[in-house]
Amino acid sequence: MDTRPIGVFDSGMGGLTAVRQMFRLLPGEDIVYFGDTGRVPYGGRSAETIVRYARQDVAFLLGFDLKAIVIACGTVSTTALDVLKRENAIPILGVVQPAAKAAVRASKTGGIGVIGTKATIRSGAYEAAIRAIQPEAKLTAKACPLLVPLVEDGRVKRGDPVTERVVEEYLSPVRAAGVDTLVLGCTHYPLLRDVISDYMGAQVALIDTGEEAARAAAALLGEGDMLNDPAREGERRYYASDSAEDFAATASLFLGSDITDCVERVAIETYPSEEKA
Ligand code: DGL
Repeated sequence: MDTRPIGVFDSGMGGLTAVRQMFRLLPGEDIVYFGDTGRVPYGGRSAETIVRYARQDVAFLLGFDLKAIVIACGTVSTTALDVLKRENAIPILGVVQPAAKAAVRASKTGGIGVIGTKATIRSGAYEAAIRAIQPEAKLTAKACPLLVPLVEDGRVKRGDPVTERVVEEYLSPVRAAGVDTLVLGCTHYPLLRDVISDYMGAQVALIDTGEEAARAAAALLGEGDMLNDPAREGERRYYASDSAEDFAATASLFLGSDITDCVERVAIETYPSEEKA
């Protein structure tokens, strides 16, 4: 048994979709969440900037005595996971591998779509991970840069004409490719599940990367005998680089319940961003 907390971070609020699944799968675990709300979105930035920001996010989390870190962000997982793993001894889990495995499991035809931020699609990381498992997979990838701002603005409901129009424009080539599985390669996208599913059709399986990362974290901790007592109720602490009040007010949209725990603001730019030896 390991009673230390798990660190989770994202560029903003999207990673809370993974935390929501961790509440379900890992109820006894203490969680320290950091959302870089002052600098979100990461997805349109260069790989160099994303790595710099990610190093600071990890440096902040390492101030706690953690047993593992979950990168609940498609953009950081696809762009900075290798660097972060190389530079830190703590187990670090991203969303790509778990989501790739789930996509291959779900797809009957091998036709798999991947959507994500510009940085995620530019990295080709999901495609590489899927091909490593199923070389003959027929992949269609599409960057959807407007989806994160729509989600952060709460424009997630069925019937929102702007959101439906944007989803249609981005997903029309993916639907035309005839995929039977779609990887929601950004942890913000599960909030758009209804709109995306309406457009793609109910027969297309949607892979929630946050959920898959939560499952992978549960497996990792279980195998390493690192779980906390599942009968207890885990404590959660939230940190954000912009207003703590705004974070608390928006969090329920992602978590499906209100935050009663405290939220604190962090000056993330004061944390080290240089390469570690
Ligand atoms: N949740 C992040 C991701 O999964 C948000 C993207 C962003 O910051 O642009 O990619």
